[in-house]
Amino acid sequence: MTENDATLILPTVTAEGAADDTAVFARVAESPEADAGPRALIELDGVGMTYPGPPPVEALKPVRLTVADGEYVAIVGPSGSGKSTLLNLLGLLDAPTSGTYWLDGHDTSAMKESMRTRLRADKIGFIFQSFHLMAHRTATENVAMSLVYQGIPRRRRRQIAREKLELVNLGHRLDALPTTLSGGERQRVAIARALAAEPSLLLCDEPTGNLDSHTAEAVLATIDELHAGGLTVLMITHDHDVAERAQRAVTIRDGELREGNHVGAPAEAP
Ligand SMILES: Nc1ncnc2c1ncn2[C@@H]1O[C@H](COP(=O)(O)OP(=O)(O)OP(=O)(O)O)[C@@H](O)[C@H]1O
Ligand SMILES: [Mg+2]
Repeated sequence: MTENDATLILPTVTAEGAADDTAVFARVAESPEADAGPRALIELDGVGMTYPGPPPVEALKPVRLTVADGEYVAIVGPSGSGKSTLLNLLGLLDAPTSGTYWLDGHDTSAMKESMRTRLRADKIGFIFQSFHLMAHRTATENVAMSLVYQGIPRRRRRQIAREKLELVNLGHRLDALPTTLSGGERQRVAIARALAAEPSLLLCDEPTGNLDSHTAEAVLATIDELHAGGLTVLMITHDHDVAERAQRAVTIRDGELREGNHVGAPAEAP
């Protein structure tokens, strides 16, 4: 599975899958959580990934990682260290070859693919280095399209799209085609799209990799604001300046995770 596959960004719940799992999902979603301390949104226990090859590649060694609801965590590491592998696992785009991943209290390892797809559409927004916008659709249409599979009527989809575009300061470019937008504006359309379904988690894979430093700053400021508004952010980057903005940095090297020093604003004491 590659990060360039634009279709991954859009939820693809089939009518069949939704019918199969709706009852189960509703039951799980309603189960009350213990109210002690900050809730873990992400919990990885022994999660590892070995690509089958040949030869097999152990891209992620079994890791333990907890991200609290509302946290902003950076994952920093050089090229080939396993960052996208980890993001694909966290985003339920791939299943780990070992360990258990709880997302918002749901054990995702035991889930059928259709249920994982549904959970992904419900909880996770993605932004990548490339914006993956549909070239012949306006900014509003690009955002609204992401809600097609959620069963939301067209008018409401467009209304949500406009609201999200306004949130990322693109209210004046609602009808613009991507080719007429700057790189930073395109990435903000992609952020609006990631936010359309009100996710709990924003997964970012080098979102400023294609942007000049001034434009990157504006995109990162938008992400800062979303975090301040309560969104949990996981930022994958090889850039230490980008990682500085997070509350906590975790380094990854040769598929091995290590908790780094706290950077940026101090996280709450455990
Ligand atoms: N589908 C695959 N099959 C086999 N090996 C893979 C596959 N995808 C990635 N790898 C290998 O797993 C390791 C981690 O790759 P990954 O894409 O996670 O790195 P990364 O940290 O995201 O790198 P970059 O910063 O260049 O994007 C690399 O050695 C890579 O070659
Ligand atoms: Mg990568």
